[in-house]
Amino acid sequence: MLIAPSILASDFSRLGEQVQMITKGGADWIHLDVMDGLFVPNITFGAPVVKAIKPYSSLPFDVHLMIQEPKRYIEDFCKAGADIISFHIEAEQDVMGTIRKIADCGAKPALAVKPGTPVETVFPYLNQLYMVLVMTVEPGFGGQKYMADMLPKVRLLKEKAPELLVQVDGGIGLDTIASSAQAGVDICVAGTSVFGAPNPAQMIADLKKAAGAA
Ligand code: DX5
Ligand code: ZN
Repeated sequence: MLIAPSILASDFSRLGEQVQMITKGGADWIHLDVMDGLFVPNITFGAPVVKAIKPYSSLPFDVHLMIQEPKRYIEDFCKAGADIISFHIEAEQDVMGTIRKIADCGAKPALAVKPGTPVETVFPYLNQLYMVLVMTVEPGFGGQKYMADMLPKVRLLKEKAPELLVQVDGGIGLDTIASSAQAGVDICVAGTSVFGAPNPAQMIADLKKAAGAA
């Protein structure tokens, strides 16, 4: 199981240091939650912030776009250092064009689905994708309760495309990661559990252990 700590739960006044700390602490990817106040009722940060923290880690930058019409901003995030770009199928009319734009920029394309969106909506695009992100909370905020009833989506994806990476995001902690691992999840995003822990590095190790024991 790979762990992608979400910097949404980190101390925004010291983003560089926080990214460095989890990089040394055994994180696999850095998860960056971009919100526009339209697609979700919250605003976080954009490409300039991604660019500013890029030098603090050599890990893959996993950018999760929770923005309306993401195609408009793909180049900006690629230039800023995004390695993987997830966008929401609910937010974009030109899904294929957006996937192509991500790939043309040299990043890896991923599609994300909100809890209310059937996973079948991403099926037509599976062979163009590097990953599918199954939200296990309503996007917009950290620290919400894990929705275990999203796991059938993960199982369906793994049946349909065993090679494709599947990520879950929201409510991942020591009590929930085992169920994701059992369903076949490859990468877990973890915000509050990692950055809220007294020792984030230890928490990353404990999460991996809990997933491995599943
Ligand atoms: C929610 C974000 C998540 C969030 C996860 O919209 O996409 O990445 O930060 O936070 P926790 O781990 O606190 O549920
Ligand atoms: Zn996220």
